[in-house]
Amino acid sequence: DGSIITIPVVVHVIYSNSNENISDAQILSQIQVLNDDFRRMNSDANNTWSQAADTEIQFCMATVDPNGNPTNGITRKSSTKTSWGTNDAMKKASQGGVNPWDTSQYLNMWVCNIGGGILGYAQFPGGSASTDGVVIGPNYFGSKNGGSGFYLSAPFDLGRTTTHEVGHFLNLRHIWGDGGCSVDDFVSDTPTSDAANYGCATGHVSCGTTDMVQNYMDYSDDACMNLYTQGQKNRMRAILLPGGARASL
Ligand code: ARG
Ligand code: ZN
Ligand code: CA
Repeated sequence: DGSIITIPVVVHVIYSNSNENISDAQILSQIQVLNDDFRRMNSDANNTWSQAADTEIQFCMATVDPNGNPTNGITRKSSTKTSWGTNDAMKKASQGGVNPWDTSQYLNMWVCNIGGGILGYAQFPGGSASTDGVVIGPNYFGSKNGGSGFYLSAPFDLGRTTTHEVGHFLNLRHIWGDGGCSVDDFVSDTPTSDAANYGCATGHVSCGTTDMVQNYMDYSDDACMNLYTQGQKNRMRAILLPGGARASL
């Protein structure tokens, strides 16, 4: 339909030390990566896969808070908790976390240490409003290309974890469908694959075709990823357009 969709973002930083209390500049570097990746303005875009697409979805920091007051779209909370796990405690003030801003109006991002080697996780469309959004570890949120002195861990230091998690938030599955060759990601222009790829396994073949290891929904290193496809674009936009579960955004 050709219209650009802009999603307002609020970032809730919950930290137990000064490293985890990432700077405004590091946060803004992440929003830049999201916009570059979703609009296919990323400097590492290449033409390996002809189905690569500009999703015509973009992001901005919220400028008005739920009470109608001006905001920079960032909240910060100090906590003694050093590892939050994946049970959504960071999303609940009653459990020491921060409640989401109205999830029909904002994409909520919680930045806190998850622990267990987990970079991030997301809630698919259709889940509980009180836990809707994405969670990313502070050392994976933002890009080393966006400034200096950032708290980031290679090889996940280019902001692609958030690009991946926002893909889930907008209804995308892992490119291998979380199963063998008979399990699909419900996107026809991503080649069927039997498992996650790690590192940068360019040219790896499974299920009789070359895996799209450069896709943001594989498990490749940040520097290896560079595209969403036209089919993934259509699946994400269907959720955001009138009648979709996230149309209110
Ligand atoms: N393991 C996480 C997930 O499945 C994120 C993987 C992100 N990959 C990356 N190269 N940053 O949601
Ligand atoms: Zn994932
Ligand atoms: Ca597919």
